[in-house]
Amino acid sequence: MKNILFRIVVLTILISSCNSTDQKKAGSKDAEIESRIDDLMAKMTLDEKIGQLNQYTSRWEMTGPAPENVDSMFIYNMIKEGKLGSMLNVTGAYATRNVQKWAIDSSRLGIPLLLAYDVIHGYRTMFPIPLAEAASWDPEVVKLSARVAAIESAASGLHWTFAPMVDIARDARWGRVMEGSGEDPYLGAKMAYARVKGFQGDDLAADNTIAACAKHFAAYGFAEAGRDYNTVDLGERTLQNIVFPPFKACVDAGVATFMNAFNVVDGIPATANAYLQRDILKGDWEFEGFVVSDWNSVGEIITHGTAANKKEAAKLAIKAGSDMDMEGNVYIDALKELVEEGTVEESLIDDAVRRILRVKFQLGLFDDPYKYCNAEREKELILSKEHLDAAREVAKKSIVLLKNESGLLPLAKNNTKIAVIGELAESKDVPLGSWRAQAITNSGVSLLEGIQNAVGSSQVLFEKGPDYTVGERGFAIPVYINNTDLSGLNEAKRAARKSDVVVLALGEDCFQTGEGRSQTDISLKGLQQRLLEEIYSINKNVVVVLMNGRPLEINWMAEHIPSVLETWHLGSEAGNAIADVLFGVYNPSGKLPVSFPRSVGQQPLYYNHLSTGRPFGDPNGAVFWSHYTDESNAPLYPFGYGLSYTTFEYSDLKLSSNEMSESGNIKVAVSVKNTGKFAGEEVVQLYIRDLVGSISRPVKELKGFEKISLTPGESKEVNFTITTKELEFFGASNEWKAEPGEFKLWVGTNSAAGLEAGFVLK
Ligand code: NOJ
Repeated sequence: MKNILFRIVVLTILISSCNSTDQKKAGSKDAEIESRIDDLMAKMTLDEKIGQLNQYTSRWEMTGPAPENVDSMFIYNMIKEGKLGSMLNVTGAYATRNVQKWAIDSSRLGIPLLLAYDVIHGYRTMFPIPLAEAASWDPEVVKLSARVAAIESAASGLHWTFAPMVDIARDARWGRVMEGSGEDPYLGAKMAYARVKGFQGDDLAADNTIAACAKHFAAYGFAEAGRDYNTVDLGERTLQNIVFPPFKACVDAGVATFMNAFNVVDGIPATANAYLQRDILKGDWEFEGFVVSDWNSVGEIITHGTAANKKEAAKLAIKAGSDMDMEGNVYIDALKELVEEGTVEESLIDDAVRRILRVKFQLGLFDDPYKYCNAEREKELILSKEHLDAAREVAKKSIVLLKNESGLLPLAKNNTKIAVIGELAESKDVPLGSWRAQAITNSGVSLLEGIQNAVGSSQVLFEKGPDYTVGERGFAIPVYINNTDLSGLNEAKRAARKSDVVVLALGEDCFQTGEGRSQTDISLKGLQQRLLEEIYSINKNVVVVLMNGRPLEINWMAEHIPSVLETWHLGSEAGNAIADVLFGVYNPSGKLPVSFPRSVGQQPLYYNHLSTGRPFGDPNGAVFWSHYTDESNAPLYPFGYGLSYTTFEYSDLKLSSNEMSESGNIKVAVSVKNTGKFAGEEVVQLYIRDLVGSISRPVKELKGFEKISLTPGESKEVNFTITTKELEFFGASNEWKAEPGEFKLWVGTNSAAGLEAGFVLK
């Protein structure tokens, strides 16, 4: 019944994007639009063209280092002079209408502004952070979340989101792990595609769709030592095989824009990187949308030390294919002189302007620049019941059950005295996550509220325990952790003693993750470990509810605590969704999109690593093999891992053939049976290994997955088809192709388990 309701919600919201029969692919050319662009460009001066390449933040909201001595009058004048093509961080139907009016009424050509915002996992109705959504392994769920975010932001005047972030992240120290879909290019590509479709719908001109932006191109997630903005150094094959696939999926989905990255790649800043932007993106992939820089990343070419001044930075960036300068003031200050002296061809400027205007036309801004700013729609749609229901459904599906010994979960609703403990359990703010757009502070359903909503207040005892954070916290403020003040510990212990079961919320404040929030220590911070151990010494029936935006080091917990739920930062409806899982209204079905390490020293840790020349050894003696002497190589929880309240049995793995020709395929079938007592969903995962290649190939690679529902006792056959597409990679010949030879194949419940078979590509 619940699932049927969910499908109805999904359907209604998804269908609402198809209010036009026009199926034009965003970013691509259309004759009528191209001719309107020709007409407009013929009227534009060089200054006005360069103006289109310039983007400023509003002065009332900052998502980067604040600019100096600049006020709204300055912005107005720039718009009036035709020197600003786009703004970020202007939100709300009223404000967006006002700035748009400046552009339409006061500038010579009345070219509409493109208004952008970081709508990452919801606009005001918050959905789970993207990493959590990826744990659903359900592209429809992810698409739904992006769809609702688009409906709300479009109603409040926005045209463009800086999402999805599709950076592969293999290092849990990096704060932005929360913003992407984890460590795997295949899963990442599926999620990326779904998000773009969710934001953009079928028609960019509809008044409830917005342009998406694939970011950060490229390899931003490979920052050395997981430190944000740090150096990236990786080879072309890792770029092609691991980093690019989610970006390519965005292009295939018709993404309208790309954002480049702060980092260097092999010494060259991504923003000045012609290989990335001209050869790959606009060349090989024939991308016809535009590339925006990251916040002053054109200016940071100077700080990287590959340009001496603004002029050099502007020249490098525009030649490399960066079309729009976000908050850098570099293009507006330097491009004109570069063109006039002949260092930069005007055709490069024209190409960038054309790409930007194309997106403005596709959004329908030239036909009605105010169609997105609709105060009535804004009021009606934002935080609607339908959107909150969708947020709860997506949240439930994002939860991963890490451990459930002796079936402590699900909890009985009646006659159970429940101690709810922890600052995070009470928080109405942490669940909203980092990068929370226009979420209202403290507007989420806390875990405590969710449990009270489910069972009433009389059987719930809440104790906060020792404070977790100290003082003010926020997107642009560092989070301070309490390491010393034990007040509240005794009260928490007393509550644990008086209860049948303890639900203990632990993990991270949401602002410990996100941009600029890298960490060297990913274990439980502050007094949390002590709280956990002391509570457990009193009452063994502990359910830990983890709230975090990155994999954490939780060895002690994994060894001792009977039940652990990974709930990430789940958004507006977090508490209700967690309660649905705690009390068995929903049987958890999420799977980890990232490996959980045993130690931060294992970072970067990912399942699809290469073999190395010395992969084998005896942990109890041998020395000369690829290992740590003080820790296992294995993760604590592998990629793809997640339990259910029921159990599933895999059998009868069958291949239609053990040989495949280049143009042929192999059908893979497996039987999955629900052998437990609850109805449940399972993500059936297919992995392969190419045993010998022209380059060393990963020991396992995800190549297919399907989420199925089974009632107790029910079996289903799950089918996959393998073609050369699943087998190809960018090898020694510098091209994508499948290489003949032997392959292994596994189908199972996570990346470390599965039935095994093999085949040969002829
Ligand atoms: C910097 C971030 O890296 C990027 O992801 C974001 O879109 C911009 N700031 C704008 O806020």
